[in-house]
Amino acid sequence: MPEPLLDLANIDKSYGGNPVLRRVSMDLLPGEVHCLVGENGAGKSTFIKILSGAVRPDGGTLRLAGGSYSSLSPQESMRLGVSTIYQDIELIESLTVADNIFLGHELPAGIPGTVNIREQERRAGALLDMLRIRLDPGEPVENLSTAQKQNLQIAKAMHGEARILVMDEPTVSLGVDEKKALMRLVRELRAKGLGIIYISHFLEEVFDIGDRITILKDGEKVGTYDVAAMTADKVTRLMVGRDASQFFSRERSTVGETRFEVSGLSCEGVEDVSFSVARGEVFGFGGLVGSGRTELAEALFGARKRLAGTIILDGEKLAPASPLEALRDGVCLLTEDRKRLALFMNRPLSENVTVAHNELFGGALLSFALERAQVADMLAQLKIVAAGTDIDAASLSGGNQQKVAVARWLLCRSEVLIFDEPTKGVDIGAKAEIYRLMTDLAAAGRCVIMISSDMPELIAMSDRIGVMRGGRLAGILPGAKAREEELIRMFMG
Ligand SMILES: Nc1ncnc2c1ncn2[C@@H]1O[C@H](COP(=O)(O)OP(=O)(O)OP(=O)(O)O)[C@@H](O)[C@H]1O
Ligand SMILES: [Mg+2]
Repeated sequence: MPEPLLDLANIDKSYGGNPVLRRVSMDLLPGEVHCLVGENGAGKSTFIKILSGAVRPDGGTLRLAGGSYSSLSPQESMRLGVSTIYQDIELIESLTVADNIFLGHELPAGIPGTVNIREQERRAGALLDMLRIRLDPGEPVENLSTAQKQNLQIAKAMHGEARILVMDEPTVSLGVDEKKALMRLVRELRAKGLGIIYISHFLEEVFDIGDRITILKDGEKVGTYDVAAMTADKVTRLMVGRDASQFFSRERSTVGETRFEVSGLSCEGVEDVSFSVARGEVFGFGGLVGSGRTELAEALFGARKRLAGTIILDGEKLAPASPLEALRDGVCLLTEDRKRLALFMNRPLSENVTVAHNELFGGALLSFALERAQVADMLAQLKIVAAGTDIDAASLSGGNQQKVAVARWLLCRSEVLIFDEPTKGVDIGAKAEIYRLMTDLAAAGRCVIMISSDMPELIAMSDRIGVMRGGRLAGILPGAKAREEELIRMFMG
């Protein structure tokens, strides 16, 4: 067996007296992809933040690059060859691709205090070529798609002699083809001898590229296994204590009369889309990232200017000019970008759950007691793991933040609920909870519209699937009969 690149031993970490990691150990070999899995809040991100120097452990040892450490600073971690790509993309939007790659270690130009932009762009270009990432080094980051930003993060991580690459849920914002490209890149980096720690809630990915897998549960290590010796069922059982087969498959409710009707809708990025949703129906939207699904949802929610078309709910014409108007009309949208659009990171959890409800029904004080009970009920239903309802949204784990966003819209009691990637970053058990809630909403007669890039989810949940391509609706398929390959072919056109 080759010498490990990394050995983390007996790592302990608590927040305010709550243990988050208890004597967790993990090692990493050169040329291996070591996957780290566990439910939301299991401690995965905290564990790798200890390696990247973002979090200080309370106990344990980090052995790497011939040294032994009780904690690392971010600079030390980087110097020792660790590069980390976090769950939330951290780039500076106003700077170029090359500037972001060289951020913090800019190349000086002749005049002191100035940066050699041309040389940075040349070297960034060479790095991107080497990684076969197609990006223009001079392009401002704000013009990039999510997938391109993800690739830039990898390039940035690879700049400087990284030997250990840590990826925290790198595929959550990617579409099918972009996921494939990322998997290819990870394989190439592994072939170059890098050690890669890979966190994901998608077990398909783990079985696709993983060599070993470490399972965390409630801050403790369950074990480390060879991926080849595992099955998805076994991993799920170790992770959540239940079989994958016990998870949700949706009972289709009887679909009633048409309630929500969209005709000829156009907005920036969307051209002439018509569809309808019946009482009790879950209408899914599939398509590649950038196919216009999110833009369509925003137009329906009054968050994007409609250029043409009509929206009818229960025979009444709606023309929401703002999200607040849409909410009053009975239409709500769970956005996919929870960091920028959905959560107030520096506000308490409880406020994040009730904010839309309060906007809608006026002051929070009136229904304070009721609200508290509702919030508590929501947290319990969605199994949101948090130290209390008054802690900031920022200190929740990624998946729990997503659940808070879902809870907010469920409280609004809208007639039409649009969920844009509702289970992004959510673990398998909580996914089942969200599916159950969506099913209950449909069964109660609401119209549920779900945008999803997760193919099994799209197929299992949707009564019908609308496929978006290049801003247009390319077709509508019955959900139960749809097959993954057929859908992907339709996505590509
Ligand atoms: N700064 C913090 N202050 C208080 N608690 C925190 C802080 N950071 C993390 N936690 C808590 O530590 C626990 C583990 O969080 P962590 O982000 O490591 O989970 P995770 O396994 O990455 O989950 P996910 O799959 O949802 O991303 C959670 O209960 C979280 O609320
Ligand atoms: Mg996490």
